[in-house]
Amino acid sequence: MNEILKLSMPISWLDGIDPRTGVIIQPNHPEKGESIAGKILILPHSTGSTVGAYTFFKLVKVGKQPKKIILERPDSVTISAELAGIPVEVTMVREVHKLEVDAPEKFLRFLEKEASISGSKGFIKVNSVHISGVSYSTIGDAGLEFLEEVSREGLLVKVKSTTNPTGMDLRRWKEMGIQESYAEKQFRIVRALLSIGVEPTFTCIPYLVGNRPKKGEHVCWGESSAVAFVNSVLGAKTNREGGVKTIVAAVVGFTPKYGMHLKENRRPNLLVKLEVPLQGRTDFGVLAYYVGSLAPKSVPRYEGISKASEAELKSMGAAGAASGSIELFHIDGITPEASLLCKEGCETLRIGVNELKETKEWLSNSGSVPDIVAIGCPHLSRDELVKAAELLDGRKVRIPFWLFTSREILEKNKSLCRRIEKSGAKVLCDTCMVVCPLKDLGYNVVATDSAKAARYLHTFQGLEVVFEGFESLVSLYATRS
Ligand code: F3S
Repeated sequence: MNEILKLSMPISWLDGIDPRTGVIIQPNHPEKGESIAGKILILPHSTGSTVGAYTFFKLVKVGKQPKKIILERPDSVTISAELAGIPVEVTMVREVHKLEVDAPEKFLRFLEKEASISGSKGFIKVNSVHISGVSYSTIGDAGLEFLEEVSREGLLVKVKSTTNPTGMDLRRWKEMGIQESYAEKQFRIVRALLSIGVEPTFTCIPYLVGNRPKKGEHVCWGESSAVAFVNSVLGAKTNREGGVKTIVAAVVGFTPKYGMHLKENRRPNLLVKLEVPLQGRTDFGVLAYYVGSLAPKSVPRYEGISKASEAELKSMGAAGAASGSIELFHIDGITPEASLLCKEGCETLRIGVNELKETKEWLSNSGSVPDIVAIGCPHLSRDELVKAAELLDGRKVRIPFWLFTSREILEKNKSLCRRIEKSGAKVLCDTCMVVCPLKDLGYNVVATDSAKAARYLHTFQGLEVVFEGFESLVSLYATRS
């Protein structure tokens, strides 16, 4: 007799399941404490990080995977379970499409299965792929083995393929305190990826370092924050792809045409009326975090935001995809598809000072003094580094103070980074506070200004979090010299 477990709420595969036991650990999840191991698992869809797709490999490795997954709404991250050998179905019967291109048979069959499960309208060629699931901390031995197998098979990517952050600064890992054994596994992941022809960007802001899709272009991207940015700010089209799927799409060059690739799904279905002005990127993140937690699968259209910088928009994309699975948002007068009409029955959500305050309080779950400040989720742009340098000029940090950016941005702005480091802060690249093993490095309480980082530092890494705006963190933890 097959045991069935039906989830009444979506699950975040990265931090909602214990990959060693198969037990649901997602805070406030109605089925928290239940095990999915060996069961027929029925769920609405997933939320959160695209790297969560590697959780299926981890579960299979210890025999704690569900027997089968039945999705009520197709989502690419959960469909990736098929690649780990877990059958996935949807509750409706779908048409079968054939993909006839020169690519490994198992990858073609997977994409055909995804097309069938998702009710896809055939396949589309993609112009670029962004690969998530690069850090040893997130993909573990199971992910490493998968990538080395792909590498051994001699497969090569067919399209421009950039890569998400690793688990450490690839040059300064010893300075971070990373163990040799961890570094050895991380370098194996990097070598496996490079052998298939990816670009070693190792950043979650590939759109600022040469992989910037144009409006209307079809791409296939992992990294949920970048997915939201590409769809919302650039007007290009991608679904929120699971990390494993991005490898498949890079090698095949095609993806099923459904979800965000179709115009009808890009129309807003939630109207958000903002009744309070936002102050900087942290507030933008808090707003989107609130909306994502209330309407995880929505396409919100925001009213009441008069201007927004790219830094604020990337913070917004990251947060809405961390608390929910928001792939696309529109802002009246700002984003390129904001003129799309709301769908019929579109609900209205009003947000004022109380909602933002409650969300900030929820994200800050520690009353303790932090032992490290970590800034740069998503990775910092050049403009944000300039702002950081201005704030840190003439100050000395009192505790470790790490800022994360991409290698390319650092290389092009060396004197700016040296200026920041005069304060004692470190500008690190190739990694971030969430996907490096911060807890194993001996830190327990982290201060950050990012809603996405606050969420995962707590639920994925098990750390206490102090959540504050960047200016406050500088004045609290960097003394005037
Ligand atoms: Fe980027 Fe790491 Fe945040 S990958 S979006 S800095 S969790």
